[in-house]
Amino acid sequence: MNDKTWWKHSVVYQIYPRSFKDSNGDGFGDLPGIIEKLDYLEKLGIDVIWLSPVFDSPQDDNGYDIRDYRSIYAGFGSNEDMEELIQKAHERKIKVVLDLVANHTSDEHVWFVESRKSKDNPYSDYYIWKDPKADGGEPNNWGSCFCGSAWEYCQERGQYFLHFYSKRQPDLNWENPKVRQEIYDLMKFWMEKGADGWRMDVIASISKDQNYPDYPERENQKYYTGKYHSNGPRLHEFLHEMNQEVLSKYDCMTVGEAPGSTPEVARLFTDPKRQELNMIFTFEHMNIDRVPGSVNRKWELKPFDLRELKQVMSAWQNKLYNQGWNALYFENHDQPRVISRWGNDTTYREACGKAFATVLHGMQGTPYIYQGEEIGMTNVAFKLEDYEDIEVRNAYQELVVNNKTISEDQFRKAVWNKSRDNARTPMQWDDSEHAGFTTGKPWFQLSDRYQEINVKKALEDQNSIFYYYRDLIALRHQEPLLTEGKYQLILEEDQQIFAYLRSTDQECWLVAANLSETCRSSQILKPFGGEREEIKICNYKRTSLDQELRPYEAFMMRVR
Ligand code: NOJ
Repeated sequence: MNDKTWWKHSVVYQIYPRSFKDSNGDGFGDLPGIIEKLDYLEKLGIDVIWLSPVFDSPQDDNGYDIRDYRSIYAGFGSNEDMEELIQKAHERKIKVVLDLVANHTSDEHVWFVESRKSKDNPYSDYYIWKDPKADGGEPNNWGSCFCGSAWEYCQERGQYFLHFYSKRQPDLNWENPKVRQEIYDLMKFWMEKGADGWRMDVIASISKDQNYPDYPERENQKYYTGKYHSNGPRLHEFLHEMNQEVLSKYDCMTVGEAPGSTPEVARLFTDPKRQELNMIFTFEHMNIDRVPGSVNRKWELKPFDLRELKQVMSAWQNKLYNQGWNALYFENHDQPRVISRWGNDTTYREACGKAFATVLHGMQGTPYIYQGEEIGMTNVAFKLEDYEDIEVRNAYQELVVNNKTISEDQFRKAVWNKSRDNARTPMQWDDSEHAGFTTGKPWFQLSDRYQEINVKKALEDQNSIFYYYRDLIALRHQEPLLTEGKYQLILEEDQQIFAYLRSTDQECWLVAANLSETCRSSQILKPFGGEREEIKICNYKRTSLDQELRPYEAFMMRVR
């Protein structure tokens, strides 16, 4: 296989550093803590780690608000720790991908501190400044993804600045070539230190429609998010430039976070001929349990329908085949735990964790594992006041307290189901106090299930979810079919079974999962069996298609 495309047959493990492992007892995860756990990651067999932002930051949005791109945040350690981490990871043949937050900075970044001072300083055009409307109001009705307006007034300049996220995260002005050069330079800074690539935060938002048009108005709504928040007119021009200026000069991988993107748009980002990015994270499959256009945003729950999940994921598989590349994920630091969200995290927790993993890792693309997913960590249900995430806090204030569009009870249920904090509780290493995450007071509450669900226990049990992931990763390395094979969804309308074929000229595999608590006859799969039924991996004992499908049973079987 062409070694320049190593990312096609790699498996990535995402680390959310503040919650991974604390080495110094301050209750906050850090880089030396990650170094301590490299042996664990090597045992799992992953190829790449992606670190959520570790750069200097006031932590208004947990590091997605960067104050200095060239320094490591003191809570995480030092630049030397970062270099040591890269070196020690490389010794284990693990690559290190960093998080590029370049749509916005922190309001404490020196560029913004200068920019806000006047209309004519060297940094005045580094951000997006607009005059107030005649009545003094915001320049348009764009909303922040964290509620409220996307514009914040600044006395010194008598102007508003744009922020798609918190008002402490002003958006950079990518129209300004100097801004783009600054970003390329800081990318080179870390790549010269050995970083192997970038995950690019909300990269689809860097180009804005220069007419700043209003969204069409709806009743009971003042601010809007939607099509003007991503995929702006110069996006692909900027990314191609970044590719030519930086990425093409290094052996690296890139994955862009691209809310609002369809498979057609994904081709623009990832078709190798266009020389932009290797792959993007779609949100389409994450949005299937969301009511489109609701004033209550993601907090308005819609029941999970497996048919929609299959339809969306299959469209991405088919439309990117030979035309781009998929990033495969169910979990990350912004998403709840998949077994709690769409599966069963009690009676069938283990089977269910393996079943979702089978479905994902059987597809074409680069699979991502989010810390704790490999041991089946679950959602939490805290008191509302115990949530840390700015998204939850702002939404509570706006939707429950101010606008009263959702009751406190409904909101709480939605937070338990979907809040980002579900994924941000500290990693559960063992059954000791604070789950072995820290010897101090953890920055955030732990799941109360840590004595039942932890790494130590998983490593002691040969049938654990951990070892199942290890086998899935090993399969990806051994079996070119998983990287190259064509995908075909079967049983499209079935409401319990997610099944598909992967095939090359030489062979064909059947990947199947019963994503329900009810047994099903496997007769329905029989027509897809073949002269040869060789199990490649399974989460219950199985040798052929003759046995029934048990709750959350999943397998991959070579059928030709
Ligand atoms: C996407 C990140 O994944 C999320 O955690 C963050 O809040 C926003 N971008 C803003 O940077």
